[in-house]
Amino acid sequence: MKTKRIVVGITGASGVILGIRVLEELRRLEMETHLVMSQWAERNIQLETDYSVEQIRGLSSVYHPIDDLAASISSGSFHTDGMVIVPCSMKTLAAIACGFSYNLLARAADVTIKERRRLVLVPRETPLSSIHLHNMITLANNGVVLVPPCVGFYIRPTNVEMIVNHLAGKILDALGIENQLFPRWEGAREN
Ligand SMILES: Cc1cc2nc3c(=O)[nH]c(=O)nc-3n(C[C@H](O)[C@H](O)[C@H](O)COP(=O)(O)O)c2cc1C
Repeated sequence: MKTKRIVVGITGASGVILGIRVLEELRRLEMETHLVMSQWAERNIQLETDYSVEQIRGLSSVYHPIDDLAASISSGSFHTDGMVIVPCSMKTLAAIACGFSYNLLARAADVTIKERRRLVLVPRETPLSSIHLHNMITLANNGVVLVPPCVGFYIRPTNVEMIVNHLAGKILDALGIENQLFPRWEGAREN
């Protein structure tokens, strides 16, 4: 598969392991990744995983500090093949939905939308308020692909690793990146 340039954002919603798994797979596939992590992403990495923030930075091709609005990915003239924010907090989702580019993550997402490139968000919250849902409708109407991290029980997961790989595979599918992270459904097989 041809090498692609993908922007990867990780925010402080629960499920940072999904962002890490996506980054690991993009690295394995030799894709060029541009990583941005929010302050609360870094905190949740400590709270939810055994990874260090430095380790995760090391998975990317280029790491951009979130306050660096002069970064390459802040401009539409820097070509990318798409962007994913995984997991995406309701705060960052709200900022993107109203074009409020207050940091590099929101700005890069704004650029991705205006340039008509593929933007995949993995919104994580439960339950959802009508504010969250309105913001998601706005984004969906602008071509953003929303991939909530919903467990597919039809794969009969027996451990968390299977669930994480299935979700990461679905996210990469949404980005248009071929992967073998999970078994594809080929129709029900009755015994
Ligand atoms: C352990 C933990 C879990 C959280 N889970 C979520 C979540 O699932 N969804 C969400 O929208 N915010 C969640 N938050 C709150 C966000 O971290 C908070 O709104 C933060 O300001 C988001 O900022 P960011 O989008 O810049 O990362 C969580 C916070 C913590 C500490």
